[in-house]
Amino acid sequence: ASTRFYHFKVQTLRVTKLCQTNDIVTVNGKFPGPVIYAQEDDRVIVRVTNQTPHNTTVHWHGVRQRLSCWADGPAYITQCPIQAGRSYTYEFTLVQQKGTLLWHAHVSWLRATVHGAIVVYPKTGVPYPFPHPYEEHSLVFAEYWHKDVLRLEEDVMSSGGGAPPADAYLINGSPGPLYNCSATDVYEIAVVPGKTYLLRLVSASLNTEHFFAIADHRLTIVEADGEYTKPLTVDSLVIAPGQTINVLVQADRPIDTYDMAMAPFMSARNVPFQKTPAVAHFRYSGAGPEAPSRPAEFPAFNDSLTADFALSNLRSLNDTGVPLVVDANLLFTIGLAVEQCHSPHPNASCRGPGGGVFAAAMNNIAFVEPTVSLLQAYYDNTNGYYTEDFPGFGSRVQLVLQNTGTVGTENHPVHLHGHSFHVVGHGTGNYNPTTAQLNLADPPYMNTIGVPAGGWAAIRFVADNPGVWFMHCHLEVHASWGLAMAFVVKDGNGTMESLPHPPADLPRC
Ligand code: C2O
Repeated sequence: ASTRFYHFKVQTLRVTKLCQTNDIVTVNGKFPGPVIYAQEDDRVIVRVTNQTPHNTTVHWHGVRQRLSCWADGPAYITQCPIQAGRSYTYEFTLVQQKGTLLWHAHVSWLRATVHGAIVVYPKTGVPYPFPHPYEEHSLVFAEYWHKDVLRLEEDVMSSGGGAPPADAYLINGSPGPLYNCSATDVYEIAVVPGKTYLLRLVSASLNTEHFFAIADHRLTIVEADGEYTKPLTVDSLVIAPGQTINVLVQADRPIDTYDMAMAPFMSARNVPFQKTPAVAHFRYSGAGPEAPSRPAEFPAFNDSLTADFALSNLRSLNDTGVPLVVDANLLFTIGLAVEQCHSPHPNASCRGPGGGVFAAAMNNIAFVEPTVSLLQAYYDNTNGYYTEDFPGFGSRVQLVLQNTGTVGTENHPVHLHGHSFHVVGHGTGNYNPTTAQLNLADPPYMNTIGVPAGGWAAIRFVADNPGVWFMHCHLEVHASWGLAMAFVVKDGNGTMESLPHPPADLPRC
């Protein structure tokens, strides 16, 4: 294994999209930011320098951070933010990890523009478990607002209402020709007829899940959240913020240009939602540059049945070691509600539904962002920031997430830091332990799971990575409303797996 060094300079970049020029925060002058390339078991060292006036942090989403909790990145959970002009060096090892993941800012709503892909190749000489593709491409999905995203967050949180839809969806930074002024702002893959392509789909979207489809081509899913799956062929798939999905695509259609497109999926919405898809091009060599491209077709924006198909049928390729017995059985409710105007957000002006404010909670507790780093408080034994009632080190945990929103019931893509988990079951209605069918043989091994609207998902993991690990809805607006919590995974006292000490350059609050 080798060591990969990167220097991320978080900077302001002036960009023009849809004929408007705005300043956005991004890394090394690129949007999306640079790709991190590594191999399984490599050491990754990223020095992050904050050249903006705003606080920042970077999270390595899906990296399990084995015994490296201080490098995880969520602000006020494992570190205080990197302040203007300061640096922090993240160091971690990709222990038994390969595949596509992503990195993103993890403070306020900066993730909207501060994000990029992580590509981890298998060890030298280890082939993919599918025919080697002719070429690989990453497609990073995002949502774009003309308004400064920090202002956007403030406005949404102080109004008590919902987040406005994005001004555009982007594929690798480009909205594509269906948007105003964007005829040439299109990401394109040049395709050799007859070849097979591996597309690494990465969703850095802020508040929306998306359908993805390619006109006239089917997608064969071979990896999800950085773990191989049994091949599953679909016409379209849904990708939630935080998820990464690898698909194989055969260039076996007539020579032409085909749209690769993303459009919103709004699980429980029944009022029509019109939003222009982002389009990139899959252009066969020999296709006339003037010919119009073939449009991709999508299911209806709220077609949960089609959206759920992939999750219901995804199976892990290899034995990922599902715990067959559990030591701790937890049931957490998650959901949105409209509250009277005594909101957890002190400045809310109650312009939400019916003069109330939106709120969200896990186990009826709305998470309030602390002003210290929880991991630091735990390390220092500071009282008042965490409780001690978490299962012991090494516990095999089953966690059932029950979606119980009273309003705006929608899918919640819940992400757990510091671990991957086996998705052993999911269903509609209330979880019933006697009738729930669990797959303990080959469930997918993921880090972000869409908990269906009005339904449940059951996950299993072994709590053997000491630290404090954030778990939250990856729809940023829901996390801001409080759909979040942190797990304390206790120290493996006296074993090799004790809580690491903080690095010397760890930012202080
Ligand atoms: Cu991808 Cu806590 O985040």
